Amino acid sequence: MEQTWTHIPIMAAQIADLLLTNPSGTYMDGTLGLGGHTKFFLSKLNAQAHIYGFDKDPHALQMAQERVADARLTPVHASYSQAAAHLEQYGVRALDGALFDLGLSSYQLDDPSRGFSLLHEGPLDMRFDTTQTRTAAEIVNTWGLEELERIFRDYGEEHRAAQIAHAILTSRHTQPIETTTQLKQIVESVLGPKRGRIHPATQIFQALRIACNDEFLHVEQIAKVIEQLLKPGARAAVLTFHSLEDRLVKNQFKALAATGHWKLVNKHALAPSYEEIRQNRRARSAKLRVIERI
Ligand SMILES: C[S@@+](CC[C@H](N)C(=O)[O-])C[C@H]1O[C@@H](n2cnc3c(N)ncnc32)[C@H](O)[C@@H]1O
Repeated sequence: MEQTWTHIPIMAAQIADLLLTNPSGTYMDGTLGLGGHTKFFLSKLNAQAHIYGFDKDPHALQMAQERVADARLTPVHASYSQAAAHLEQYGVRALDGALFDLGLSSYQLDDPSRGFSLLHEGPLDMRFDTTQTRTAAEIVNTWGLEELERIFRDYGEEHRAAQIAHAILTSRHTQPIETTTQLKQIVESVLGPKRGRIHPATQIFQALRIACNDEFLHVEQIAKVIEQLLKPGARAAVLTFHSLEDRLVKNQFKALAATGHWKLVNKHALAPSYEEIRQNRRARSAKLRVIERI
């Protein structure tokens, strides 16, 4: 039986109101996922509009194309950070808006074979792009003590990063770490078992996912991408899900605004409504920032 994955697009109505300034425009969805936002946007746009949907995950692109089923969507298998070069091949040099809904989708998290979740037994994979060679297993089995400690500290904000890195090195000496369960147990051996709502290994899984996909290298390119592509009056919207990502976006937007050629559409980040969070737990940590080219 085919699994039917779901992913509810976050703050979709608000984003559509803020982003879709030209009903016949050309837009970019930098993180197409299952196409939730794009499908909603297309329902608000007219027949001349077009959306180029980028994703690193070839499976997501295929599912999105089936779900959206609209000739006004062109899926592109590439990072949003490379958007200008890819759009050039379609003869597109300027956009009316761009969305970046960062991180991973719930369909990726819920699929045990992708290895993103500590709640499911699965291979320690964590690649967004399944054509990429480096997996999370390669990182935990080959990276040195200091490198592991650095990613756990910098990408996971984990206070006991050094101890966990050390436990990983000791464990892999006896047996390679190949599954989500093995890693979860190693982290539990240092931090203890789950006590509250959040499992203690959550930060370590987050850190590994960020490292495996070089996520911040791409996030740091958002300002450059929108400078290359957005027309005057066009807007970019970015949804983030943790403070490290949000800080990277906030600082880039601040620097753009300081040039005098961009303005922040909202002074502070917007958050989903209480009602949306009640219906979709994943929305609880979302922050939305929107910027406009003057
Ligand atoms: C939160 S989901 C997007 C969900 C989508 N907005 C929807 O409504 O279905 C994030 C997606 O971004 C993709 N992704 C992560 N980093 C990327 C990057 N640098 N370039 C392109 N896609 C990326 C992931 O593979 C994932 O499918």
